[in-house]
Amino acid sequence: MRLGDNARPAARGCRSVKVDVLIIGAGAAGLMCAIAAGQRGRRVLVVDHANKVGKKILMSGGGRCNFTNMGVTPANYLSANPHFAKSALARYTPWDFIALVEKHGIAYHEKELGQLFCDDSSKQIVRMLLDECGAAGVTVEADCGVQRVRKTSGGFSVHTARGEVHAESLVVACGGLSIPSMGASGFGYELARQFGHNVLPTRAGLVPLTLSGKHQEHYQDLAGVALPMVETRVGKQGFRAGLLFTHRGISGPAILQISSYWQSGDDLRIDLLPDLDVGAHLVDQRTARPLAELKTVLGDVLPKRLAQRLCEQWFESRPMRQYRDAELTEVGAQLNAWPITASGTEGYRTAEVTLGGVDTDGISSSTMQSKLVPGLYFIGEVVDVTGWLGGYNFQWAWASGQAAGEVA
Ligand code: FDA
Repeated sequence: MRLGDNARPAARGCRSVKVDVLIIGAGAAGLMCAIAAGQRGRRVLVVDHANKVGKKILMSGGGRCNFTNMGVTPANYLSANPHFAKSALARYTPWDFIALVEKHGIAYHEKELGQLFCDDSSKQIVRMLLDECGAAGVTVEADCGVQRVRKTSGGFSVHTARGEVHAESLVVACGGLSIPSMGASGFGYELARQFGHNVLPTRAGLVPLTLSGKHQEHYQDLAGVALPMVETRVGKQGFRAGLLFTHRGISGPAILQISSYWQSGDDLRIDLLPDLDVGAHLVDQRTARPLAELKTVLGDVLPKRLAQRLCEQWFESRPMRQYRDAELTEVGAQLNAWPITASGTEGYRTAEVTLGGVDTDGISSSTMQSKLVPGLYFIGEVVDVTGWLGGYNFQWAWASGQAAGEVA
């Protein structure tokens, strides 16, 4: 059991306890909800089956937790109902969370595009949340899985690994399916179905894409090669950020972002040099450097190993003066619209988030309360609201947790 210094320990062993609010899942959303409910004087118990609370917070942002994004808008989220997240996001903003971080003296910095990270460690965010839980009289228990939930006349009866808990309100904050080794389970979806909620199909998001066949053969030994700025596009959605070759395919922020919009069979477009009309550039270079080989000229604007590989695969590398305009324009077109076909994703094993989940149609957007079962709430990633890469997912966890904690 890991608790905040001031958090009240729950009785060990078999017990039957009564609380006002039971929260299943001591992750970002669950702890935030607990703080808000505890501050209202509610007796709150948070249980988590993992051996440590806030595991995903700890591993997030490369250990420095990208805890919010100053540019959050509802447009940064995917959901079958794009309006659902508006209310909670408007009522608990990045500035509210930043104020909490500052109150706890946690130093932070903006990395890029409004993304805020701890200067030091993600542990500070977990410590902060547990300290706030302690101050609000919340009890937090790790190593306490939930086996069964039953609706009773007074609320819910929940069978946990440590005995029965009776609660007036039940908050499901179990997260999604990504990274099972960190405690992810489908339990939140099971509970939703048990209580008559629709669960939309789930799939891995913010996840590296895999290549197969010829595509994989051509690029697998480029693992580790990075491009600082590409543009990825599926349909109308596009992202400009870095790309990284991996042993199994392609990753990097531009790929992770677009992976949430890509599904098998979709046309994925990647512009390897979005700020350059490569065809026109090559025609200019032919005049400036007629004796230079194509791979050398391309190696000035692309990583050299990639330029060499592209020439081996597609374009015979000759001195620039030997190319006709049309040939250089064709090389440029291939680089500005790289014909690569992804075969799939790396799946939940490495995905940062789970797309889909509990259908927002059955949940109040202002309180996160079930429209079917009074006293039942769904918050965080278990809900069909998924953010972009860059602190948006934690902001949804904080905002939806706060919304439920204000009323549960
Ligand atoms: P979360 O998954 O945090 O918590 C759910 C909790 O429920 C877990 O502690 C789990 O053990 C528990 N649980 C599950 N089943 C249970 C059961 N049956 N009984 C009891 N407990 C149960 N986002 C971001 O904004 N910035 C970032 O820097 C990152 N970085 C990042 C890195 C990596 C590697 C990953 C995998 C993810 C991120 N994310 C992120 C995404 C972010 O971590 C995620 O969106 C939030 O943690 C979701 O918060 P929740 O509280 O909803 O779920």
